[in-house]
Amino acid sequence: MKKGKKLYEGKAKIIYATNDKNLVIQYFKDDATAFNNQKKSVIEGKGVLNNRISEHILSNLSQIGIKNHLVKRLNMREQVIKLVEIIPIEFIIRNVASGSITKRLGIEDGTVLKEPLIEYCLKDDKLGDPLIAEEHIMAFEWATKKEIEKVKKMILRINDFMIGMFRGVGIKLIDFKLEFGRLKVNGKDEVILADEISPDTCRLWDSITDKKLDKDRFRKNLGDLIPAYTEVAKRLGILHEQSNVSAVNVTKLSSVKRKRK
Ligand code: TMP
Ligand code: ASP
Repeated sequence: MKKGKKLYEGKAKIIYATNDKNLVIQYFKDDATAFNNQKKSVIEGKGVLNNRISEHILSNLSQIGIKNHLVKRLNMREQVIKLVEIIPIEFIIRNVASGSITKRLGIEDGTVLKEPLIEYCLKDDKLGDPLIAEEHIMAFEWATKKEIEKVKKMILRINDFMIGMFRGVGIKLIDFKLEFGRLKVNGKDEVILADEISPDTCRLWDSITDKKLDKDRFRKNLGDLIPAYTEVAKRLGILHEQSNVSAVNVTKLSSVKRKRK
């Protein structure tokens, strides 16, 4: 597969064209941003870890029938993904109240919700990704009712699966963000999951200590992010204890590889 020109650069990823018009390459950067780009940093090794963690979760989701954009991981920082038309909505799924909902509604951090709560935000950085109602999505034709019903079903299955997967390795899945896209299959639009799933896009707390193992470490200056992401990867069985591939080593390795190309 040949890597073509840069199509899009986001806050944490870059998308490149390929010689197949249906596929693109997704490159995971080390850049970390929070609060709609107001806080920024480069955290060496983050992209490598997110690439691996996201690959692991998306391939597991494929195995339970959740269609998603991942085709395969190419190397330490890149994946081949299907090119989709992104639905301009960030779907937030909450199992425990934390983050923006605690401030917006005065709910105590850590409150366990009776049922998973789905919130919708318009994907628009200039507007600060505002919270919207489900009705806005249909009113402004960002997606159809049928698409939203399908997405909601997928979200609840993804949430159930991920809660179990993380619980098995001593992690509580507090909340996460998902995006979906349209793919033409036999001339018809099909909605698939089209996003990374990583500690950048999930809140993950240690089951016993409630230690934060996600991007809140960066958002709230809780200390190093790399050891926490490495811990998540190790617990999921992606990095092995003995090999003790520290993220920094992983990064060095990937930059050596890149230089050689
Ligand atoms: P929030 O509490 O800030 O609304 O975030 C809810 C979840 O969504 C949390 O796991 C972080 C994730 N998220 C993103 O992945 N991207 C974003 O732009 C935002 C605002 C949240
Ligand atoms: N990713 C968003 C930003 O850059 C927000 C966040 O994850 O907190 O600003």
